[in-house]
Formats: sequence, structure tokens, C-alpha cells
Amino acid sequence: MCGIVGYVGPRDSQSILLSGLARLEYRGYDSAGIAVIDGEGDLEMRKRAGKLSVLRDDLAAHPMPDGTTGIGHTRWATHGGPTDGNAHPHLADDDRLALIHNGIIENFAEIKAELLAEGFTFRSETDTEVAAVLLGREYRATGDLLAAFRAVVARLEGAFTLLAMHQDHPGLVVGARRNSPLVIGLGEGENFLGSDVAAFVEHTRKALAIGQDQIVAITPAGVQVTDFDGAPVEVEPFEVMWDAAAADKGGWPSFMAKEVSEEPEAVANTLRGRIHDGVVSIPELDGLDDLFRGIDRIIVIACGTAAYAGMVGKYALEQWTRLPVDVELAHEFRYRDPVIGPSTLVVSISQSGETMDTLMAVKFAREAGAKTLSICNTQGATIPRESDAIVYTHAGPEVAVASTKAFVAQITALYLLALHVGRLRGAVSASAVEELARELEAVPSKITWILENDRARIEEFAAWMADTRSVLFLGRHVGYPIALEGALKLKEITYIHAEGFAAGELKHGPIALIEPGQPVFVIVPSPRASALLHAKVVSNIQEIRARGARVIAVAEEGDAAVLPFADEVLRIPLAGPLFEPLLAVVPLHIFAMGLAGAKGLDVDQPRNLAKSVTVE
Ligand code: M6R
Repeated sequence: MCGIVGYVGPRDSQSILLSGLARLEYRGYDSAGIAVIDGEGDLEMRKRAGKLSVLRDDLAAHPMPDGTTGIGHTRWATHGGPTDGNAHPHLADDDRLALIHNGIIENFAEIKAELLAEGFTFRSETDTEVAAVLLGREYRATGDLLAAFRAVVARLEGAFTLLAMHQDHPGLVVGARRNSPLVIGLGEGENFLGSDVAAFVEHTRKALAIGQDQIVAITPAGVQVTDFDGAPVEVEPFEVMWDAAAADKGGWPSFMAKEVSEEPEAVANTLRGRIHDGVVSIPELDGLDDLFRGIDRIIVIACGTAAYAGMVGKYALEQWTRLPVDVELAHEFRYRDPVIGPSTLVVSISQSGETMDTLMAVKFAREAGAKTLSICNTQGATIPRESDAIVYTHAGPEVAVASTKAFVAQITALYLLALHVGRLRGAVSASAVEELARELEAVPSKITWILENDRARIEEFAAWMADTRSVLFLGRHVGYPIALEGALKLKEITYIHAEGFAAGELKHGPIALIEPGQPVFVIVPSPRASALLHAKVVSNIQEIRARGARVIAVAEEGDAAVLPFADEVLRIPLAGPLFEPLLAVVPLHIFAMGLAGAKGLDVDQPRNLAKSVTVE
């Protein structure tokens, strides 16, 4: 989950590396470091524990010679705490070689023991330094950096992206990837490497996606990609759809604030080009009709917020395709013995497209013979590349650790998929699709209504609750995953204890948590959609009210039945039952962000977390 950037070209690299790292800092922010080969041909390196700003300040106070070849890293600690010594780059070969790494080298202990026995010494507790020292040893033996690098990656087990450079070879950066992301940016007389395109999007939008188990060498003149044995491989070029401004705060106080404000656009852009006169067609799925006709079951796999999107999607997939749908956390799915085969469609959902738990589950499903489809927000990412089919969400870059606009885009993509597959299989009529498509198209303006009319009030309310120690969330049907999402968002960015429950489960245990003053958010279903479900939730509200809970209802405009029992009502516009989650989640995102802000916390980079979880 670290951020990696590499540069070769005519320009001084320090500012290019630092601005690339600033865009990648969401991947990890325990420490940061850069190395360059300076004008004298010497390797210079600086690294500091803490956020990137600590490194920047250090470089400003004590400038380091600049050079036109460089690598940079921002870390999320795995092996060894967040210290200066454990920060990357790691040096070897008498400090003439620098190496950075994302991932986990599983067999590092064995290689370290071998190197120690040969008399090599180590300055950190990291698995990464083992790769650096090994590269130094191999390079000494051959004098050929690429051959030495190939020898190193052949020895390593686990997941890794590695970048390395040696002062004997100015103008050359080598990289490799296995189960961890790396993309190439193609410039004019300069080239870039990055964990994702954000690393170089301000310099070029031309990119190449590197496949699994491939090695790349970049020089100012070109790019060479081979497999781990050195055989040349074809790489796929693509045009980056985001522009650099999309990955900036754009005047908002935080990325999260900007991203919540972009929820309407995230839905609209995910719909764009996929609904024509009430007919849903997803161009990326052209030619796959037989695949969708041949399945008899769908399993959705994902983690965190993406899994909650999957839980919402299950209702639509089942209703509109009439196929049985299971939703499972990717890390649980992979480690049991699920009954899957060629007629199972495994749908993975991932904003980053790099979540290791999800990636491994996708590979596992493919190996078991299932068909795989990825719903992903990031071009060139690994999970879509490993899948039989892709539906991109077009939410734009999501930088804040807390996933918000990606969540509504994921639900939107799942609904489009459900309508597409349902129509193909004749499970839903053309007129029903037309009506549902119209409902979907109305969602962005309804989210905008919440943002424009209620944002300030919800933020004020959140600030008033800043001293709360615990918050519960209840929901039924599609409101249940929204309750889980509301709780996750609150705990990850405010560090307040929060739990989400299915409202019907309350009396089976959780009601014991209710004591006078306990705040409970209740997602109230529309009375128009289901009078029965609505009545049940209103009864649940009465049960907790009777025990002293402070009830905050998220309810449809005009629902007067909740008024006598709620201390606070957060209103959402009228929508069909399956479209309510896309609206009900918005006040919960605003609430979590408002409360974190009131507590003075960093909403974009909450403690212990990273945006892209590339370790299992
Ligand atoms: O990139 P992904 O969508 O695969 O990430 C999955 C989860 O790690 C992610 O949603 C996480 O739960 C967020 N921090 C939630 O806000």
C-alpha cells in the first residue's frame, strides 16, 4: 500500500518525485523518501519518518544535489515501525544502489539469513532491505543491472513492486511487479513509473499497463518490458481519462469534502453512455451475451465499503436477473472451499483495483473455473486485468482514504449490470427497464438536493455530537448495508465506536447496548414502497426510544410517521425502494466528515489506514 514513483529525463527529478508522491500519499503516509543520481554521477538519498511534508521541510532546510534520474516512495509500514531507518529507499553496494518496494517479501527471513552468513549487514528491520542487499550482491557479480534485477525477482516470494537504480547507470530505472501495481507514463524524451497514474498524470496522459511478473527498464529514450526471464512482452497502451486537476482538492478543505460533493457526478458519469432512450447497454460487455446467458449464480466479492455496495447490489441483481446472488468478503471467500464452476459469475468490486484480498479471491475464482467480472474505478489496475469482463465506474480519482463517491458509483454500476443481465435473460421487461433507468438518471439531482439543502445542517449537528463515544446504525433490507457503511465511515475517520445492525436483529442481542442518550441512526424505508417494512422499522424505533435512545432518522420527505419518535430527522428526496440507498448514504457521509472535522482530525489520512490495501 505504499506509493512508488520513478523518473528519467532531462529535468531535475526532485520536484517531479515530490509532486508524484504528494498525489500518491493516500497510499501510505508513515514515512517518505527519494533518491536521485546527481550531476556528478553520485547517488543522493533523503528519507524521513512522518508525512511527506516532513521530508519536504527537511529538503528545504538542507538541500540535496538534484539529478535527472530518481525514485521516490511513501510508506505504509509492514515490517518494522515508521522510522527514518525503515523508510525507503534502501541502499546497498556501498550506497551506490537504491531500491524501493511496495508489498511483502514473504521469504525475506531466509534470504536475510543467507546474506548475513555471507557477511552482509543491514540497517533496517524491513523485508525491503533484503531485496536491496541481494541486488547489490548480484550486481557486483555481473555488472549488469537488468540481469542482476532479474536474478533478484526470481528469488522473491510474495507480492512486490520494486524500483531500483544504480549510480553506474544514470538515466536508467528498472522496475518489476508481482501482485502489486506499477504503470508506465510515456513522455517526450522522459518516462515515468508509478503505483498508479496519479504519480505522473500532471506530465503525461499516455500510459502503459505492466502485466503480472514483468520487468520494465525506462530510459529517456524509451521503455523496454520483458517477463521475469527477460523475454520481450507486448504491453497495452491506454490514455489516462483523469486530468491532473481531478486529483487536486479544487478549493475544498479536504479530498473527502471534495469527493462527497462529487457524488452526484460519480453517479452521472457512471451512467453516461450506458442508457439510451430507456435501454441499458454497457459497451464494455459487448460480445459477452453467451457468458451472461450461461450463468446460474452470481457471487459478489469485495472488502470494506465496496462489499457494502455489493450487499446493496444483491437486492437489484436478484430482483432484476432472478439469479441467486451471494455477497462475501473477498478474504473469507478465498479461504474456504466454495462451490463454484463455469456457470458461476464472480463479480468483484474495487475502487482501487489493487486490493490484495480481492485480487487473490478473483484469481482463486478463475482457477476454479468461474467467470469473473470486475467493477473498478481505476484504469490499468490489476483486478480488471485479471478478470474476464470489466465495468468501470467513472467516479474519477478518489484520494481520501474513506471511500464515498466510489460507493455510489459502485452501486450504480451494479444496477446497470443487473438491468443489462436481467434484460438479456428475459427476467425483466423492456418497459420495467425503461422506468428503472429513468429512476437511476434522476439520482444525481436528488443527491445534489441533499448536498445543497442539508449539508450545513448535518455538519452543525455532527459538530454538536463531537463528544459522543458510541453511535449505532440500524437498517432493514437495502437500509441494512447503508447502516453498515454509516458505521464504517464514522469509525474510520472519527475513531468513535460505531456499529451497524439489521434492525430486525436488534432484539436478538444488540438492544442490550441501548441506554439513555445512546445515539442511534435509523435508515427508514419509504412507506410508499413497503408499508410493512416501514411499519416494522417504526416499531424498532419505538423499542429503542422506550429504552432512552436518541433517534436520528434518515427518512423520506413527507414521512410523518417517524416524527413523534425521532429526535432528529435527516430528509432524503422521494425515490423507489432500490434507489433510496444512493440517497440515504449521503447524510451519513456528511455526518462522519463533519464530526471528524469538529474533532480536528485529518479526514483524508486517518490513523493506521491506507487507501489501497495491497497486502493480505
Ligand atoms: O479499493 P477497494 O474498493 O478495493 O477498497 C476496499 C476497502 O479497503 C475500502 O472500501 C475501505 O473499506 C475504505 N477505507 C472504506 O471507506
